[in-house]
Amino acid sequence: MRLCERIALVTGAAGGIGRATALCLAGEGAVVVLSDLNAAGVAETLDLVERFGGSGISITADVMHERDITGLYQRIAELYGRLDIVVNIAGGDREPGADVEDIDYERMSANLDLNLKSCIISCREAARMMKPQGYGRIVNMSSLVYRGSPNQFSYAASKGGIYAFTRSLAMSLGRFGITVNALAPALVEVPAFVAALGAERWELLRQDCAARYPLGRVATPEDVARCALFLASDDAAFITGQILEISGGARL
Ligand SMILES: NC(=O)c1ccc[n+]([C@@H]2O[C@H](COP(=O)([O-])OP(=O)(O)OC[C@H]3O[C@@H](n4cnc5c(N)ncnc54)[C@H](O)[C@@H]3O)[C@@H](O)[C@H]2O)c1
Repeated sequence: MRLCERIALVTGAAGGIGRATALCLAGEGAVVVLSDLNAAGVAETLDLVERFGGSGISITADVMHERDITGLYQRIAELYGRLDIVVNIAGGDREPGADVEDIDYERMSANLDLNLKSCIISCREAARMMKPQGYGRIVNMSSLVYRGSPNQFSYAASKGGIYAFTRSLAMSLGRFGITVNALAPALVEVPAFVAALGAERWELLRQDCAARYPLGRVATPEDVARCALFLASDDAAFITGQILEISGGARL
């Protein structure tokens, strides 16, 4: 087991990628702290983890509120006294498909708050715990749209910001034994996305992407989870400041 007795926080743990990541880390022996805004969903993920023989706790928190994030880390400090791994997954696009002329201040702010500011504050709290330990693995969730994407202006900006922040943090924390990397998936088939689009539109999107990606299919949540596991493990001990594109070769 690659993560025996490591304490690992996963945000967005009720979602498609977050749930797969929680199961993957717990399957390698990590004690998982699962957090999400969706209380029922995160409890369900913990239930799955336990059914597969893993252990952990679930905590409901809204990453758009600084006090929820600090409360989450306080709870981890009280319960475990240390934190080895953080995978910041909570996020989503709050302004999909908007033309540039239609960028809305509130939706743009929601994208920056949900994806970028939440990640920065979570990493600040993680650094406060990990620096004195002299050990840590931080994995942030970007997206292939960090390279730019038409009609996803504020979402792409938030995910590009995560890349710049991840590199900056890696430069500062390396000497404390802490690695900081980011994941950049192309389209991932998650239940929430399929439900939001409806089966017919999802199928068109899936087929369009599969035809364009050299590997001929879209990603599964497990494709992403296995990369999170790699970066969270000591197999990736000498990798920091990187963005790992999980894209089936899209946009080479
Ligand atoms: N699905 C994709 O194609 C894809 C591609 C690239 C990147 N991503 C990124 O992966 C991450 C996970 O997305 P997913 O595809 O699993 O979607 P998802 O909707 O299944 O998961 C997102 C999770 O984040 C949680 N969340 C939303 N707002 C929150 C808040 N304010 N506080 C706490 N939790 C909150 C949701 O409850 C949900 O459980 C996101 O950051 C997303 O931007 C997804």
